[in-house]
Amino acid sequence: MAKLAPSLLSADFSKLGEEIALIDNSGADYVHLDVMDGIYVPNITFGAPVIKKIRGTTKLPFDVHLMVDRPERFIDDFADAGSDIITVHPDASIHLHRTLQSIRERGVKAGVSLNPSTPLNVLEHIMDDVDLILIMSVNPGFGGQSYIPAMTEKIKKLRNLILRSGNDIILEVDGGIKLDNAREIIDAGADLIVVGSGIFNAQDVEQRIGAFKKIID
Ligand code: DX5
Ligand code: ZN
Repeated sequence: MAKLAPSLLSADFSKLGEEIALIDNSGADYVHLDVMDGIYVPNITFGAPVIKKIRGTTKLPFDVHLMVDRPERFIDDFADAGSDIITVHPDASIHLHRTLQSIRERGVKAGVSLNPSTPLNVLEHIMDDVDLILIMSVNPGFGGQSYIPAMTEKIKKLRNLILRSGNDIILEVDGGIKLDNAREIIDAGADLIVVGSGIFNAQDVEQRIGAFKKIID
């Protein structure tokens, strides 16, 4: 059964604790945290100090998506803040293999995130070094963008690659996921879907999470 990770990017930043409590009570499986540095992506969000502050508000695992240049500089900070998964972009990290190792050395799951134009072959030599692969189904930087339809085929191909590797790797998909395309994305092979605006722009967030859970089941 696929899992749901609401992204706080579209939540009300003035009351993050309450927003987390809401998704926690509604049956979300992870909290997805989008860290942006204004260099790797054209937007800035929050960093490790904020994550550390909100860590105590829930037991849900923290899925930390680093959209930052040279993320290797911050692995210890995000591990110390209580991340359960740290995902980096290969084109942001000079020595990707070493970065993944340093995440695992901290006892944190290591993820790699591929932008829509990044080919799957960047994964060829690191399939034993990742716990999660994230397919970006929008260009990273902003919430509320439209799902790129060509990503469904990419998800299917990645699902086969993971099967062939024999490794236990989570296939996560992030960007433009709404009630009307969630099923297609899960059927293509997603284990974990990230939803930002599709949840937090709803009138009733709890009810919307319930609707996503129903589609997932
Ligand atoms: C975009 C982020 C996403 C974003 C998804 O760069 O990585 O996690 O929050 O937002 P929606 O669901 O609105 O596309
Ligand atoms: Zn994200």
